[in-house]
Amino acid sequence: MTTPVLAAEGLHKSYRLGRTEIPVLKGVDLQVLPGEMVALLGMSGAGKSTLLHLLGLLDVPTGGAVRYDGAATTGLSAAARARLRHRHVGFVFQFYHLIPELTALQNVLLGKMMHRSVLQYLGERRQVKQQAIDLLTQVGLAQRLRHRPAELSGGERQRVAIARALMTAPRVILADEPTGNLDSATAEGVIELLFQINQERGIAFVIVTHNEDIAARCHRTVRLRDGRVVN
Ligand SMILES: Nc1ncnc2c1ncn2[C@@H]1O[C@H](COP(=O)(O)OP(=O)(O)OP(=O)(O)O)[C@@H](O)[C@H]1O
Ligand SMILES: [Mg+2]
Repeated sequence: MTTPVLAAEGLHKSYRLGRTEIPVLKGVDLQVLPGEMVALLGMSGAGKSTLLHLLGLLDVPTGGAVRYDGAATTGLSAAARARLRHRHVGFVFQFYHLIPELTALQNVLLGKMMHRSVLQYLGERRQVKQQAIDLLTQVGLAQRLRHRPAELSGGERQRVAIARALMTAPRVILADEPTGNLDSATAEGVIELLFQINQERGIAFVIVTHNEDIAARCHRTVRLRDGRVVN
């Protein structure tokens, strides 16, 4: 049997607001196989972003476990979680999360630099820069390397974010409504790019979307309902 690249087991998450505890996830089970594209659907407020944050180790569950390649990630320090996240997953968000003061190239470089010591970075600088240029070229932005986010269109910004996610060669990309802020023609181009990356690089995806057409093109669709995943 193939080991899932990413798995949630009985995942619970509650938020505490004053004295009240608000349960959002109530035992989510989900397995993502290597190279699989999974669409995650659900009503607004169902807990899709919450689940993605837990899967990406940005937040910790109140119960249950997240596994990377079969290994539990429970009980790790924040630093160990960050290292693991960096090696294993990439993120693409609805609102890009680019740094406004930096150029497209610098934004893509940043993800890699953050997890290198200064010496390591200086040693690899040329090679890392070339890798960033290659990735920006592959997402169609060879002519936009020195543009800042404000000088890019929405679709171009999302392509920068996708190139940034690819810098660490992740096994899985977690995408939270990656086309939610784009018009339908631009969205189509970004989705095509994600499918192309999946096919060429074998990277698995979990894509949160409200768009049934996008969901239908994924290998599998799961829905969050009443705090659980239903197929
Ligand atoms: N930090 C927080 N503190 C308290 N409650 C939170 C927090 N984050 C999310 N919630 C609550 O958890 C529930 C799920 O939120 P989440 O953002 O995961 O939903 P979603 O499915 O991504 O919705 P949408 O489709 O609108 O993006 C919501 O009711 C929200 O109010
Ligand atoms: Mg959300």
